[in-house]
Amino acid sequence: MTPKIALFASGSGSNAENIIEYFSESRELLFPIIVSNKSDAFVHERARRLGIPSYTFSAAQFREGTAIIELLQANAIDFIVLAGFLLKIQAPILQAYPNKIINIHPALLPKYGGKGMYGHHVHEAVVAAGERESGITIHYVNENYDEGAIIFQARCELTPFDTPETVAEKVHQLEYKYFPETIKSIVTC
Ligand code: GRF
Repeated sequence: MTPKIALFASGSGSNAENIIEYFSESRELLFPIIVSNKSDAFVHERARRLGIPSYTFSAAQFREGTAIIELLQANAIDFIVLAGFLLKIQAPILQAYPNKIINIHPALLPKYGGKGMYGHHVHEAVVAAGERESGITIHYVNENYDEGAIIFQARCELTPFDTPETVAEKVHQLEYKYFPETIKSIVTC
């Protein structure tokens, strides 16, 4: 059976769109639904254009889990991919999808991870620290932010002229290049 993936996103959703587009021809993976915690997230507009149903749930519903789990099961979801999702995944959903939830973090974990380290906060910290490299980490999700087993990392070189904005762009390019195939390697193994 073709693996069915639910994409979770809290914001723009460029990674979600990139992943969906990547598999749109081969259909090696299917993406029946997109789930968010923000009703005004631009990912809903991307979903609309892509013809994919998207849903919004509250932080309380994510904590409790039942409504989301019912939606996932109604769509025969096999895996959950966090593509810019900012809430911690709580026990009910973790237990419903053991070792079947992966996340992408825009830095080289374990550095620059954890609560509050997302989006531009990460790149600002990397630049402030004078790092000569940054990158991406794709990892399994557990009960703590950014602490699950690492699946894949890719690096980009930084110069003293880099700003949080230029670092973000370099990191986004790595995400778009590596996230789709890394997801495929995990869900089809
Ligand atoms: C990405 O940088 C990803 O690494 C992080 O959140 C950002 C999401 O960007 N988890 P987008 O919503 O996919 O454009």
